[in-house]
Amino acid sequence: MAKDFSTMEDSNRSSNPSIHDVSDPARRQVLRGGLGLAVTGLLAPLAGCAGIGAAGGPLLGFKSVPAGTADAVRVPEGYSVQVIAAWGEPAGLSGEDHAFRFDAGNSAAQQETQLGMHHDGIHFFRHPLTPAASTAGLLVMNHEYADDGLLHTDGMKTWNAQKVRKAQAAHGVSVIEVEQKNGRWEVVRPSPWARRITAYTPMAVGGPAAGHALMRTAADPSGRRVLGTLNNCGSGITPWGTYLTCEENFIFYFRGPDQPDAHQARWGLRRGDPVGYRWHEHDERFDAARHPNEPNRFGWVVEIDPNDASSAPVKRTALGRAAHEGATVAVTKDRRAVIYMGEDARFEYIYKFVTRDAIKPAAPGLSAARANAELLDHGTLYVARFDADGKGRWLPLVHGQGPLTAANGFADQGEVLVKSRQASDLLGGTKMDRPEWIDIDRQGWVYCTLTNNSNRGGPNMPGTDPANPRANNTMGHIIRWKEAGDFDGLAFEWNHFVLPGDPKLERADAKGNVGGDAFACPDGLWTDARGVLWIQTDMSTSAMGRGDLVNLGNNAMLAADPRTGEIRRFLVGPVGCEVTGATATPDGRTMFINIQHPGESPSERSDPDNPRRFSNWPDQRPDGRPRSATVVIRKNDGGVIGT
Ligand code: FEO
Ligand code: CA
Ligand code: CA
Ligand code: CA
Repeated sequence: MAKDFSTMEDSNRSSNPSIHDVSDPARRQVLRGGLGLAVTGLLAPLAGCAGIGAAGGPLLGFKSVPAGTADAVRVPEGYSVQVIAAWGEPAGLSGEDHAFRFDAGNSAAQQETQLGMHHDGIHFFRHPLTPAASTAGLLVMNHEYADDGLLHTDGMKTWNAQKVRKAQAAHGVSVIEVEQKNGRWEVVRPSPWARRITAYTPMAVGGPAAGHALMRTAADPSGRRVLGTLNNCGSGITPWGTYLTCEENFIFYFRGPDQPDAHQARWGLRRGDPVGYRWHEHDERFDAARHPNEPNRFGWVVEIDPNDASSAPVKRTALGRAAHEGATVAVTKDRRAVIYMGEDARFEYIYKFVTRDAIKPAAPGLSAARANAELLDHGTLYVARFDADGKGRWLPLVHGQGPLTAANGFADQGEVLVKSRQASDLLGGTKMDRPEWIDIDRQGWVYCTLTNNSNRGGPNMPGTDPANPRANNTMGHIIRWKEAGDFDGLAFEWNHFVLPGDPKLERADAKGNVGGDAFACPDGLWTDARGVLWIQTDMSTSAMGRGDLVNLGNNAMLAADPRTGEIRRFLVGPVGCEVTGATATPDGRTMFINIQHPGESPSERSDPDNPRRFSNWPDQRPDGRPRSATVVIRKNDGGVIGT
């Protein structure tokens, strides 16, 4: 086992000066002491809201699953699981039916037609031909990254251009057609909608940074045609039927110059070889010393039309550049779209984007996706500032406003967007504990998971602040806010929905205030049609089962009732995985989630001589290797999931 890649999930491991660093210990103590009351006080009035559950009944109707360490997916009594769409299965492209080889012997060209690795964000789109059906549809999912120790027969012992190509093909997004037959779900092959989007699929660029000097490269002097999408983590959907895939830790794919400049350094580009992928050795665009603008072409939210397999994905630069976790869309009363986004890195920011124009309806011969093809290219981006009084402000990233001027290094709006971290630093956004997924409940509260930040309060690191109240935050937290007026409001009120933790622990900052089952490191977050808030955990493999996480077993999915704050464990994943991505059929009777990196080694690179060392999920074959896959969850009585 070579290098330790174990810090790769978080793109900013260093401290940046925190403008809103509340370091006064007395004040911090007061704020901490008040949190429990604040949560209780705000939840009490919500508990009176009726009509969400089945006939207004309880939202959570299942029996809690105990924490566990089995190499299996555990769900409550009365539920069953089925695995589909594992890494390496054919995606259903016409004429490309290459079976997965358990020795990882599939070629790069075959991988390009198969499901990628490391499934993440996922959404069930209604079937284009039978939109009313809950038994057929399109699943669109992200493949966040690749474990080269599992992807190639001999791992990284040898290294060549074909391996780079295969790794690039294992990244990106899959569109697959699925249908239910006799209670079982199957991938439909071939399908005219099936598609693999990879790290070298040509895509367009929209918005103010399209064509910008910072986006131009030798291979693309136009700055408008990028090859591929990378590190696609969380996802979102739009009311006009498209999928938003989010580029997270893209910087790790690039080799840095000997002397990174201030911009490169702020984005985490380091001198010399990147941490793990070694793509630059055979694909020179990943050598930022030679192609310094190539990293600027990643870190965007990318829009994909799943109904048109020939459409080019579009990088939407108006939404800003970030180590994007997800993108969650709300709609204002006057039909403008509001996109909430978190940047998963230590001490980075929460954003929202408000479109200038209203969402247009479909018209005869014009799909909703086409009618809104430029909606996300015009609007205003804001960064969140959480103030100590439980209120907050959205600060606009608009060139010429406030400090975002040429004198401060921003020539135009395109530069503000490419350098959104630097812009947010100047504006005084609140530096958060790794913002991950965001979703919205029935009362209009917007929730964001903050997965953890063990650097909070450490030496030379920002201290705690009201929104990030725990030092050495190993457990993470879930913050929520409600906009003043509509979703485009510039002010909000906020509180903590929950401070995850384990009441069995001694350390005050790790006990938390969970009303229900203990958990840590919230990441995936999804509100279902009944209003249940599903929380998925991503305790890192290097920390799992140790320290503050000692009692919590494998990563899990829990269900929360936003009205009462009750949280109940619904699913426990196999060894070494994270649980991520959630979606359901329109009738709520089939749920799909993703299991990512089962059997991940603490170094995040598996040993090709012993691929089954930690897990052999889902196949459990003597010659197998662990594979990310989609898990289909059904209730044995055919009922709605969670009831
Ligand atoms: Fe890719 Fe922030 O999880
Ligand atoms: Ca995630
Ligand atoms: Ca995570
Ligand atoms: Ca992950």
